[in-house]
Amino acid sequence: MSIREKLEQLERRRAESETGGGAERLRKHHEKGKLSARERLDVLLDEETFVELDRFVTGRTSPSEDDGASIFGDGVVTGYGRIDGRIVYVFSQDFTVFGGSLSKAHAEKICKIMDLAVRNGAPVIGLNDSGGARIQEGVVSLGGYAEIFLRNTLASGVVPQISAILGPCAGGAVYSPAITDFIYMVRGTSYMFVTGPNVVKTVTHEDVTMEQLGGADTHGSTSGVSHFTFDSELACIAAIRDLFRFIPSNNLADLPRGTGRDPRDRRDEALLDIVPDNPNKPYDMRDVINRVVDDGEFYEVHRDYAGNILCGFVHLGGFSVGVVANQPSVLAGVLDISASLKGARFIRFCDAFNIPLVTFEDVPGFLPGIGQEHGGIIKHGAKLLYAYCEATVPKLTVITRKAYGGAYDVMSSKHIRGDYNVAWPGAEIAVMGPKGAVEILFKREIADSKDPAAAMESKVEEYREKFAHPYIAAGRGYLDDIIDPRETRPRLIDALETLKGKRDRNPAKKHGNIPL
Ligand code: HXC
Repeated sequence: MSIREKLEQLERRRAESETGGGAERLRKHHEKGKLSARERLDVLLDEETFVELDRFVTGRTSPSEDDGASIFGDGVVTGYGRIDGRIVYVFSQDFTVFGGSLSKAHAEKICKIMDLAVRNGAPVIGLNDSGGARIQEGVVSLGGYAEIFLRNTLASGVVPQISAILGPCAGGAVYSPAITDFIYMVRGTSYMFVTGPNVVKTVTHEDVTMEQLGGADTHGSTSGVSHFTFDSELACIAAIRDLFRFIPSNNLADLPRGTGRDPRDRRDEALLDIVPDNPNKPYDMRDVINRVVDDGEFYEVHRDYAGNILCGFVHLGGFSVGVVANQPSVLAGVLDISASLKGARFIRFCDAFNIPLVTFEDVPGFLPGIGQEHGGIIKHGAKLLYAYCEATVPKLTVITRKAYGGAYDVMSSKHIRGDYNVAWPGAEIAVMGPKGAVEILFKREIADSKDPAAAMESKVEEYREKFAHPYIAAGRGYLDDIIDPRETRPRLIDALETLKGKRDRNPAKKHGNIPL
């Protein structure tokens, strides 16, 4: 064959490698409102930057005639491309080939790009659409999964790992995403479950739909397994691109910078009026965050889960920053099991990738109750505490109102290596709120008085004047300053600038033992 004929053969094979499971299966796939594996990569990556690897890999075991041995790519498209010019490694599973199920060859392709990503310090993005282990391959495909899980674990904290769930992901197909940093799902087409509704029915006799068992809203708001929920694949993939405006390529790389258009010295008058005078009235902490950060832009993580704590990325004076904030408008901003898990996981991501943390604090304490105690609020709350203690990134804290009890310690206090701790003048910092404290300290006195209600009120007022303010903490140096709320933004930006060269490390160890 001449070189020209060989080139023609190559072109034919390249075209064949892009047909996946065939036109009919692709048509059905599109009918469900889903993009193909290649179309998804086109949306994800900068135009014409995708470089495919291993397009000619085929399945190798051949127990039946139609097991994928002849299908180029074996159900997954892998390679690298760019997002805003930065290299990312990608895999995109092709549901038209055996339901995107994972064979040994399919796994090897994914492992190859994961190894390259770690070696070259670039993020891995997995577009998952898979029925789990390829049933025809048996234990060989289980082995393939284990190879991926190992790499997910070793890459954790080295390069960011992002998972989009874009189809019915079952069995092994959910555990790799579960180890990655962030999971994105789409309403109506994304599902994650270890075993589907049929198995559930057989084992527990429960009737449940795919959507109820493992749909995007279930995992976005009830289980907390996924971090982001969208109405369409296009919106989902666009949001993944957006994330890269805040996160670095690896644990040693510089953070991306914001536009820096929003003036650094911008004061905001409205910050004086957000917190109500009545300490029992709620307000939306998002209003505070949006007014302080660059361009009012808050890339919120886990928006629909544990609403009593807010987590997300912002730019502040152009710096990429992770924000953790109590949310007084949900359960008064109390810390419970879900909020602790949400906060701890986010803090550990930020710390692993050198993203400074800014905490906005208004917390009445941990949530009391049998359900919380029996559910393990002690060990789960300890995760949040551990994550904050362990973090060596710059840690800045603004107490906007309440900082009570153990929650005061937990929320990035000075005592656990807070770098810059300030409070607004209306802050209340004490072991507990005035009413609770008075009920304990003056129980008998109030009961014996002629007018217990009036006695209670007067004691609460007395306590409030004596303890419920920030000056005792500031007097001890537990707060670096009490600031004018309007100056929150310039103060934080200045502190971030100062902390750019921060050096801190934990004692040498194999690894700590976070209370899991
Ligand atoms: C091989 C598979 C497959 C699999 C689907 N297919 N799953 N082939 N191995 N695991 C094939 C189907 O035979 C079909 O082929 C095509 O993919 C599309 O599947 P459908 O069932 O027609 O699609 P749909 O109705 O959309 O249902 C999708 C699904 C369902 C919900 C994913 O297929 C399903 O339940 N699959 C099995 C899921 C599962 O139990 N996996 C767990 C494996 S064990 P044709 O030729 O008709 O197009 C596992 C353990 C790992 O993963 C543990 C690690 C910790």
